[in-house]
Amino acid sequence: MKLRVNALEYLVDPPAERLLVDLLREDLHLTGTKRGCDDGSCGACTVLVDGAPQHSCLTLARLVSGRDVTTIEGVSPGRLSRLQRSLVETGGLQCGFCTPGMIIAALALLQRGTPSRDDILEAISGNFCRCTGYAKIVQAIERAAQEEGGR
Ligand code: FES
Ligand code: FES
Repeated sequence: MKLRVNALEYLVDPPAERLLVDLLREDLHLTGTKRGCDDGSCGACTVLVDGAPQHSCLTLARLVSGRDVTTIEGVSPGRLSRLQRSLVETGGLQCGFCTPGMIIAALALLQRGTPSRDDILEAISGNFCRCTGYAKIVQAIERAAQEEGGR
């Protein structure tokens, strides 16, 4: 099957039971996507599929045949995106484990326009962070939203 990941085309032949998170991390070596709970609870494995956030730990790789996948590596290659800079500036990350999934979930929101605080809380409600207490993450997303697209 063919799929596009971060604007590159790949030809792969995953077994029927192969999960997207494993295809990305183990076959394509895109280890920025994290694997936390394996059951859809933590959001660490979130990627964009055709622009929509999706848990790659709950997605069979074969279901993304012909689709566009964006991982954290494809968000802003070679530089920090506005949102990434904002997270650094506000102290919105500590261990960083949740950060790729958090950024992907927030980007999907920012691409739809300027979000309210409730929109932000809703968008990251499936992403767990053990370290920051969320307030600084929300603040970072708000700051990024003040610039077009947050990217
Ligand atoms: S690893 Fe996918 S939601 Fe936690
Ligand atoms: S920064 Fe450590 S889990 Fe979020």
